[in-house]
Parts: sequence; structure tokens; C-alpha cells
Amino acid sequence: MMRAVADPTLADLARARAVVAAHLAPTPLVEIELPDGRPAWLKLDSLQPGGSFKIRGALAAVSAYAAAGAPMITASAGNHGLGFAHAARRLGVAATVVVARTASPAKLEALRRLGVDLIVHGDSYDDAERHALALADGGRVFVSAYNDPHVIAGQATWAAEVAEQLGGERALIVPIGGGGLLAATVLAADGSRVVGVEAAASPAFSTAIARGAIVEVPVAPTLADGLAGNLEAGTITPRLVAGRAEIASVTEAEIADAMRFLALRCGLVVEGSGAVGVAALLSGRVAVAPPARPIVLITGRNVAAATLGAVLAAPSPGMSARDVLGLVDLLGEHGIAVWLDGGWGVDALLGRQTRPHGDLDIAVRHGDVPRLRAALAARGYEERSRPDTSPWNFVLADALGHEIDVHSFVFDEKGDHVAGIDYPAASLTGTGTIDGRPVACIAAEYVVQFRSTYEPRERDYEDVFALHERFGIALPEVYARRYRKS
Ligand SMILES: Cc1ncc(COP(=O)(O)O)c(C=O)c1O
Repeated sequence: MMRAVADPTLADLARARAVVAAHLAPTPLVEIELPDGRPAWLKLDSLQPGGSFKIRGALAAVSAYAAAGAPMITASAGNHGLGFAHAARRLGVAATVVVARTASPAKLEALRRLGVDLIVHGDSYDDAERHALALADGGRVFVSAYNDPHVIAGQATWAAEVAEQLGGERALIVPIGGGGLLAATVLAADGSRVVGVEAAASPAFSTAIARGAIVEVPVAPTLADGLAGNLEAGTITPRLVAGRAEIASVTEAEIADAMRFLALRCGLVVEGSGAVGVAALLSGRVAVAPPARPIVLITGRNVAAATLGAVLAAPSPGMSARDVLGLVDLLGEHGIAVWLDGGWGVDALLGRQTRPHGDLDIAVRHGDVPRLRAALAARGYEERSRPDTSPWNFVLADALGHEIDVHSFVFDEKGDHVAGIDYPAASLTGTGTIDGRPVACIAAEYVVQFRSTYEPRERDYEDVFALHERFGIALPEVYARRYRKS
């Protein structure tokens, strides 16, 4: 049965503002510098009681429904449950939280610590929500984490606080789960640009906007566990947002990058769901041109120690010999020929690893690219956006930061190069070994030739000298000059 849910009214917004102001101090708004030197402002709702912004909506909703005197129930991926439990305790109301068995251990543990009436049910957020709705039919008030006028009114209070903290032209950037926060931000934006950021692994909201209807989508595992799940039938949030906000989406590798950046460069513990806005700025998926100022709501800090540890431990695992052979085997199983280029290509030619490699460069026939993408996607590799990305040149990365730099080319029937990265047919004749296993690579003469088309970096000198010494390949002038000196 579809619940009838009213839109938030101006009176709801005003009441929520009063309740939230009575219980919570405004969270700090801090200026940071992005790696490209541009500023961004982070609104630290990760410091709220319960560890996320969710206490705003929970306080507003619990206080609005308390007058009816009925017990309340909610379903949650964890954070709303925590906010709800805190709000219920402050306001002296009986509350039940339903979460899935698969909820983040950090959130389950925090809920248990709070001593809320907790029901652990089902294997996904969707299961937990269905169960809570069924239980609510027995006379409890169901307080949705996102599909509720008072919850939305409560979430809107962050934007009202920002308006008092920073003037000028603003772009408000928030994560999207059920879209309650995004709908709230649209309502409170007061003319500011609004951007919602989704985890690509869980595209329920963007799909609802694109189709103009709520449809069930598959949800993949994601670091942004708080954003994962489908939308309750009849959810009001897509309608409130449609045409009034931009929607971006970020990959797992981009979320992991943002979590590392926030921890190591900004001193902030932020869960994946709370980091998607920063991920969108770091990856360039969202651009904010001055004088507008990007303001990102950092929505939560509830990340399991093991997850945070794994993300932090892998800033750049690099590509080991084992990684490379595993990928060559995988592509071989799919009948996709690749030639190793870059640092690994040189080391394969030399038959030994001379230094650690941050990534793996491969050349591939352009016609094989769709199958290559599919085979690697099944291993968790997704495209990482780069300023120089093109159909011929792109980077695939996994959540741990392994990177594959793909270069594709097209030959005509005669075997002449006609499009893409300029690999002459003769350049695709190299063979080398990694850990004694034969692999195809770019031929040594061509590696040397390619590396004389730009100002050499230190590692280019090392690679070209090694190829010269091993294979007797003549040194191009720029290399010969340095070689004579050394
Ligand atoms: C940390 C965090 N950020 C953002 C969201 C998204 O909020 P909404 O469901 O209102 O879109 C959630 C939802 O649980 C969350 O836990």
C-alpha cells in the first residue's frame, strides 16, 4: 500500500528550524584547499550527535509527531536510526529502529550502545524498510528517513545555517540517498545552485528523476553504505527535486580518494556516504567556477575501523607483478589481446622489475574496448575521470586504487594505423617476461622513440638507458646528451 506523504510546508520549515536551533549548535563551516589550489567549504555535520546530519530531520519529525502520543518506528541504513534514537531520547519518546543485518558494523554497534529498541531484519536496506512499514501498520508512526515532510524540513536547517555563516554566491553540494537531504536543500537554497551527488553503485534517485517514475534498480556494494537502497513507492523527494538541482554520480575509487583526502589532508574522519560531495569536486565531476563558492555538507563519520583502515592503507597500492599477470590472464580469458606499455612494458622487456609501478599502461585494439571495460568492471574497475580522458585514452581504477591506463588504436585491413593512439603495427611486436611468464609488449625501439616526443622525466632516462644497454638501441639526441655526461 502506498503511504500518502504531504509536502513540507513553510510552517514545517519554520518549526523545524526552531526545534533544531533549540537542541543543536550550528556545525562549523571550514575552508579547505583542494589539490588544484581552489578553495572549498566543508560544513561539518559529521560532528553532530549520532555522527551524522540525520539528527536534524529526526528532531523535527519526532517533535512534530510526539503530540499524537503513539510510539514511533523507523527503518535505517544506520545514521537515521542513530539520529532518531538521539532525538527520541532527548524528547522522551518511545522509538524502534529497524536495520538490515548488512548495515555497517560501526552503525550497528553505535545503535546497540545507545540502547534503542533495535530490530535487525533482512539483508538490505530495502528489506528493513518493508519490515518497518509492515510493523507500523500495527499502530506505530512510521518516520521515514527521507520520505517525510518533517524529516525534510529538519534537513533543510543546514542550508539556513550556512546562509548565516557565509555570504556571496554559493553552490550547495550534498549526498543523495533517498533524496530527503537534496529535496530539503532545494527548498532552502534561496537561489543558490544545488548539486546532489549519488554513489554510482546505487542509482535509485537519478533513475527516478530520469524516468519520471520510481523504478527498482540493482544496488551494488558501495563504500557509501548510507546512500545505498531503493526508494519507497510514492516517495515525494524526486518530485520536489526534479528540474531544481543537478545530479552527479561518483565511483567507488573516487569515494575512497575523497575519504583519504579528508582524513590525511583535512584531519577529518568521514564515512563514504559523507565524502561523495568532496569526491565529486576532486574528480572534476562537479565544477564550481569562481566567484561561486562550493559548500559541501560532510554528512557523517560513522565508518567501521576496518573499512577506514583499508581505505587509508591503500593510497596507491601500485601495480605488482602479480596484479599485472592477473589482469593479463583475465583479459586473455576473454580473448582480448593487450600490449604492455609504460613502466611495466619496459620492465617486461628487461625481464625484471626495476622499480615500483603506480599503474599499468596497456595498448588495445579499439574494437576490443567494450569487452575490456566489461571484463574489468566485473573486477571492480570503473572509469576515473581525468582532464585528458578521450575514447582512445582513459583510466580504469578499482576501490583500492589500482589503475589501468588504457590506450586504444584502430588499424585498417592493410594493417595501417588509421585512428586512436599512434601505435604503428611494427610497435606491437615486443615480447617480454614478468616473473618468467611471457607477455606481449610495445617493442623496445618504439618505446625509445615514443619517449623522445616530450621532455624526459627522470624515469624516462632510466628506462631508455636500460633499453639502450640491453638491446643496443640508439639513443635519441636528448637522451644521448645526458648519457655522455653520466
Ligand atoms: C552520511 C549520510 N549522508 C547522506 C545521506 C543521504 O540522505 P538522504 O537519504 O536524505 O538522501 C545519508 C542517508 O542515510 C547518510 O547516512
